[in-house]
Formats: sequence, structure tokens, C-alpha cells
Amino acid sequence: MCGIVAYTGSADAVPILLKGLKILEYRGYDSAGVAIQTSTGATEVLKTPGRVEELDAVVAEADLSGHTGIGHTRWATHGVVNHQNAHPHVSCDGEVALVHNGIVENYLELRAELAANGHTLTSDTDSEAVVHLIETHLKAGESLEDALLHATSRLKGAGTFVASARSQPGKIVGMRMGNAGGIVVGHSEDGNMLASDLLAVLPYTNRVVYLDSGEQSIITDTSVIYRDGNGDVIDKEVIISERTAEAAERGAFPHFMLKEIHEQSERVASAMRGRVDFENGSINLPEIPFSDEQIRNFDQVVLVGMGTSLHSAMMGATLIESFARIPAKAENASEFRYKNPVIDENTLVIAVTQSGETADTLAAMEGAGEQNAKQLAIVELDGSQATRMAHGTLLVRAGLEVAVASTKTMTNTVVCLYMLAIHMATIRGTMAPEVRKAAVGELASLPSGISSLISQEKAFKAIAESLVDCHHLLYLGRGFMFPAAMEGALKMKEIAYIHAEGYAAGEMKHGVNALISDEMPTIALAPAGHLHEKMVSNVNEVKARGGQVIAIVTEGDEIVPEIVDKVIELPAASEALSAILSLVPMQLLAYYTAVALDQDPDKPRNLAKTVTVE
Ligand code: G6P
Repeated sequence: MCGIVAYTGSADAVPILLKGLKILEYRGYDSAGVAIQTSTGATEVLKTPGRVEELDAVVAEADLSGHTGIGHTRWATHGVVNHQNAHPHVSCDGEVALVHNGIVENYLELRAELAANGHTLTSDTDSEAVVHLIETHLKAGESLEDALLHATSRLKGAGTFVASARSQPGKIVGMRMGNAGGIVVGHSEDGNMLASDLLAVLPYTNRVVYLDSGEQSIITDTSVIYRDGNGDVIDKEVIISERTAEAAERGAFPHFMLKEIHEQSERVASAMRGRVDFENGSINLPEIPFSDEQIRNFDQVVLVGMGTSLHSAMMGATLIESFARIPAKAENASEFRYKNPVIDENTLVIAVTQSGETADTLAAMEGAGEQNAKQLAIVELDGSQATRMAHGTLLVRAGLEVAVASTKTMTNTVVCLYMLAIHMATIRGTMAPEVRKAAVGELASLPSGISSLISQEKAFKAIAESLVDCHHLLYLGRGFMFPAAMEGALKMKEIAYIHAEGYAAGEMKHGVNALISDEMPTIALAPAGHLHEKMVSNVNEVKARGGQVIAIVTEGDEIVPEIVDKVIELPAASEALSAILSLVPMQLLAYYTAVALDQDPDKPRNLAKTVTVE
């Protein structure tokens, strides 16, 4: 969702902002813009609906330069995608420029009040109200930082705001309000930066500070000041980020998504490196911050997440419950946050979120924190808000994921949850040593299992091409394969825009059977395991009603291939690891269906990578 980058210093701000906006593209956006303080003392605002390349061309045409500027990629929430609604927004007198990420809930009331007081609002956005509020405070003689503080005190909602004022040149103020996106402050010798994402700052500096809710950062070319919600100056420790600037290069791959699918074999190996002791059949997770006693005392585990991360959480709940014998459930974070859940200090809440910035997941964590639950974050992006809210973090080590639809981060997340479940089971004494050794030992074959599936890509592409005329698809699974089915369906919806439902196969008789026909193919996840026979019955039921079935089975299955239309074979593995392996062909099915339909799988319409508003 919306991305923010700002710079003030001795270098030209324009290329820094454009590079930052390019880096932030992966979050998802529909318009881009910059506001630059030029050497003549003016603030030039250039913005355009469309891609950063288009902004690049507009900026080049204008021959813009200056040492202080703010930039934005917009993901529309209030108001259509057009020039007026793109950020930066400016005040009536052109004095203030503002970029915003988040939602101002009381914007209608504020816009009406501002209009009644003589302001001319030129966009349909909630954000524009804030720039006019700042203008009012500046006119009363306040500094930009005080004006922003007072303006945001009128707002309901959550968001991050970055503003500059023509009469206070060389200064940029950033503020975070609640948990709708973060602000990272980059300290460097050549100037200072604010951004919504560490990745936009890393090409210039790894000395960073994250703002907490209510805090402000006031940057000039030589100084950075932090203030709390009362406007009092505070000290913040500068952290040295260990993450290096990762070039978002797709190499020879036509899309990032395909590249990321291909990386999975190598990436799962990094998730395991140093954490899996194959010799002793044990798991070593020093980053888990809880004592053995605390782990023994947990009486429930609640995993919260959204989208693909919710599906990883569902798999994690099954793993933890079956290995560590603790009641475990996955909850949609957007539902959990508004419940009155029964949780306390003996509850372990696991926030599953690759970005660590999903607004609903952070709100669920906030609620869990108020109930004194112990919290663990499972994330890709170190330093993100979830890592700062949790007691500890398990990094999934998938590497930067650019495509909006998650692939490698899910695979790695589930591998981390698998290791965590074994770790907890070991401490709680719920897994016999030989069972544990087998479960650990099996991880060794996961990278090669993934590679062998990727090597069958052409066959999956052919199956995908047979799906392009479908309007509906059904994905069926049981046990570990139920969340896998949900994820397969989500991938198809997200990038190929084909309606797909993931269902627990046992639920079919309670409604879905009414939809079965030759026009709705079923992807049946039926690998070897204790539910195989049950899935065979479900497959027969679909076939008996004229449905076409593509089955995902374990190699050597002699039953299912005989009764279905097309078969995808997984390498032999346990039920849990079969679920992880099954993700790969389903990712490729969705990818090649999207490509055959001429859709861009990296940037699906209306979706964002990082959802920082609820
Ligand atoms: C968005 C993305 C999904 C992602 C979900 C949760 O919807 O498009 O790919 O699974 O957010 O994101 P998180 O960063 O919390 O894992």
C-alpha cells in the first residue's frame, strides 16, 4: 500500500526519491508523486496516476532538482485513481506539502469544517484534510512539527504523515499515529531520510530508527530530532540494520513471482541453516525468547494472520497442536482484533506476517499485548513493527519478496512453524525421540523435493492452460491439505482472477456438491496419509457428478490416477511436508493461468503487498 520516502541533505533529492519510490513499488500502488523544494524557494509538486516510470518521465521533462523533497506511491482508498487524488497534497496557499499512508476516519466531518472555513479542497481524499489543518496551524505561527502534531490530534484512525513547508526550508517532519504503517528514519552523513519501508533507506544508510505510535521525527540535512506525542524531545537509539540493500532484480525470469517460486528450494535451506541439527535429529531456535517453563505452561496457542499468512497460521496451528499437544488455533487477525478473546499470560500468540506491517495483524497483537499474552512474530522483514511488538521473532529468511502474491515467504514460514512445533514438543516432552528424529530428518529432503516439482513446470503449465476458460474452481483438501487448498484457491483468485474456493473436503456434502458440474474443475489434494481413503471418496463423488478432477497425489499412488482427469505427483513425504510441497505446483498453476490470460502476476489489480490500513 502507500509508500513514503523523503530526503533532505547535500545531495539532489530527486534521484533519491525516485529510486526510493521504485523500491517501494512492490507494496502495490496506482499513482506516484513528489514535492521538491527548489533553489528558488518554491515547492514544485509533480504527480501522476500510473507507474513510477511515468513520474520519472514527468520529472525529467520538468528538469526538477532540489535538496529537500517528499515522495509517495498511492494505493487508492478514498477517491478514484487520478491526478488530483495522487499525493503529495498541498495547502491552499501552496505552503505545505503532505504525503500520507493510512485512513483518516473522520475525514468527511473535517473536510466539511475546512470548506466552511474557506479552504478549497481539490481532491476527494481523506489525506487532503490534514494538509489544510496543518496550514491553519502554520498561519497561527506554529512550527511545522507543532502544526502536524496539532493537526493529527484532530484525526480518528491510524496513519503515517510526512510534511514539508515552504517557509521552513530544508526541514521535513514525519509522524506515526497508531499502527497503520511504520516510519523508518535513516541517519547519514550526506543527509537524512524518512520512509515507510527500510528497503527505501538501505541504499544510503543502515543507521536507522523506527518511530513508535505518536512519535515525530524532524529531519534537516544535519540533524534529526525525535519528539513524543506531547511534543517533548526524546532520545531514540540508532540501530544498525543487518539487512543489506537487496536489488529487486528478476534476472532472466519474466516475472518476480516465477523467480520467487524458483528460489524456494534454496530459501527453505536458509530457513533451516543453523536451526536444524540433522545429526542429532533436533531443532535449535535460540531466538525463541521463552523459558522452558513458560513453554511448558502455555495452555493455548493462537496464531493470527491475514491472506496467505492466515493459511500458514492454519498449518502452524495443526502442527503445534499435533506435535506439542497444546490447543492451537489460527484466527483471522481482522476478526480477532474485534473479539473479546479468552487469552492471558499463559497464551502464546504467534503473529504470522511476512511484512510485519499488516494493520489488522498489528492490531490483533496490540489487543493480545493488553491481555498480557506472550507474543512471537514470524516475519520476513526484520525491524518491522511486528518484530518490535513481540517478545521475540523468528525470521523466515526467504529474502525480499516482490510479487504481491506470496509464495516463498509462505513456504519458509511454514517450515519455521514446523521447526517451532518440534522445538515446543521437545521441551514439553510430547514427541517420542524417534518420532522427533524422523520429523527433523525429513526436512533434509524438502529442498530437493521442491526442486523436483519445479523441474516439472512444463507439465503444470499445460494443465494451467487448460483452465483459462473456467470461471470457477474448487480446491479440496483435508487435514494439513485443507489450508493448502485454501492457499491454492487464493493464488488463483489473486493473480488469474478466476473465482476459486478452498474447501475442507468433508464439507462438500453440505453445500458445494450442488455446484459440481463439468464447468467447475476440482483440484483434489490427495497425497498419501491417514486421510487418503477419505479423499478418494470425495474424488469419486465429484467424478460421479460429472466434475473434472486434477489430483495432487504422492508418487506411486495407484488409486487416484485411475479415476481422475489429470495428475500431479508429489515426492513421497509425511502429511505435513506434503502440504508444503503441494504449494509449489499450485503456485505454478496459478502463475501460468494468469500468464495465459495475459494478466501481470506480479501486480494483480486492486491488491497490495503490504496492507497497512484495515
Ligand atoms: C496482502 C498480500 C498477501 C499477504 C497478506 C498478508 O494481502 O497481498 O500476499 O499474504 O497481505 O501480509 P503479511 O505481510 O501480513 O504476511
